[in-house]
Amino acid sequence: MEYADFLDESYVPDDELVCTFRLRPGEGLSVGEAAARVASESSNGTWAALSPESNVRQYSATAFDIGEVGDHGATVSVAYPQPLFEDGNLPQILSCIAGNIMGMKAVETIRLLDCEWPEGLVRGFPGPQYGPSVKSELLDAIDRPALATVPKPKVGLSTAEHVDIAEAAWRGGVDLLKDDENLTDQSFNPFERRVSEALAVAEKISEETGERKEYLVNITAETDEMLRRAEYVADRGGRFVMVDIITCGWSGLATVRRRCEDLDLAIHAHRAMHAAFDRLPQHGVSMRCLAQFARLAGVDHIHTGTAGLGKLENEDTPGINEWLGSELYGVAPVLPVASGGLHPGIVDQLLGALGPEIMVQAGGGIHGHPDGTEAGARALRASVEASLEGVSLEERAETVPELRTALEKWGTETPR
Ligand code: 3PG
Ligand code: 3PG
Ligand code: MG
Repeated sequence: MEYADFLDESYVPDDELVCTFRLRPGEGLSVGEAAARVASESSNGTWAALSPESNVRQYSATAFDIGEVGDHGATVSVAYPQPLFEDGNLPQILSCIAGNIMGMKAVETIRLLDCEWPEGLVRGFPGPQYGPSVKSELLDAIDRPALATVPKPKVGLSTAEHVDIAEAAWRGGVDLLKDDENLTDQSFNPFERRVSEALAVAEKISEETGERKEYLVNITAETDEMLRRAEYVADRGGRFVMVDIITCGWSGLATVRRRCEDLDLAIHAHRAMHAAFDRLPQHGVSMRCLAQFARLAGVDHIHTGTAGLGKLENEDTPGINEWLGSELYGVAPVLPVASGGLHPGIVDQLLGALGPEIMVQAGGGIHGHPDGTEAGARALRASVEASLEGVSLEERAETVPELRTALEKWGTETPR
């Protein structure tokens, strides 16, 4: 049992987890030799030749389909037999397919690009409770994108300031208040006070406008504390929690997902820190794969970028969103969230690129409006509605002064 045994260029996988990698071989190795080492280290081989007595080879991965070397390396596929994995244990799966191999000298760089999930593995995971159905089941955003906003400045606002901004945004037409990824339970804006006051105001504005207003409450913390916070949200009538899923980790997310089933809460996944894995095209784990893990783990919405229109670098947002909505052995789809540098002047381009089955989230693009948050929310809502009706933003701005002001302020440019 040595490295060469883990390569079979003509292999045809059958009901296995197939991972596609892109790699640059380490010094002195061919792509095939490096791929064999990847299959070995990510399943059950090591650097030394072994002569096991039992049939452990049945759990070995096989590298196949070796591509030509391109800009960032050559693509190779690796098939993993399902018994290699523990049912529903995402950390264990990732310790195989994105573990030691990321640092092996046998590869100069390596990126996990995509996974094809076999039914048996998928069935071990819960998947989302709601997914895109939150738009109709928990909100009144049936035929349009759900609209969310995060108060800015990100942190430092008092609870009263935070809730005042929320009230104005809800009244102006957004469906959801969202906490920023780094706002949890700081002294200037404590969790419990914020949640109870904001949810009370959400109820008031729901009655006033006749439209359900909800709150994506960031419960990011140590796992037991996240459960306690989720319970607090449910006790006060909230329907959503938000988790920074990369910084909290897949294990914490699994625990939260289980409790959210009992509490009937939907999970909003923020992906802060994903770019540490997926920004460099030649190395790490693609956002496409991170989104796959999140769907299996059972988040209802996840940030997948703005198709390059916002302030952050994006990998193939349309392709990732398509995967999140695709059939996966009956597992519910996930609602993609476009966020990061969005404003009313680029919403038509955004919906043109991604379609209406998304959540549109804007912070600065609402609260930076010259006439304040409520006007900013009205401008965003008008821009979304005009885009869906096929009316140009300029034309709609003739009857919606808040949109006119937003267009004058930000134009149709991508922010940096
Ligand atoms: C580890 O888990 O640290 C490695 O598997 C070490 O194993 P090796 O000695 O086979 O590289
Ligand atoms: C988010 O958490 O989604 C961002 O804070 C969005 O903020 P922005 O719209 O101001 O970029
Ligand atoms: Mg943010």
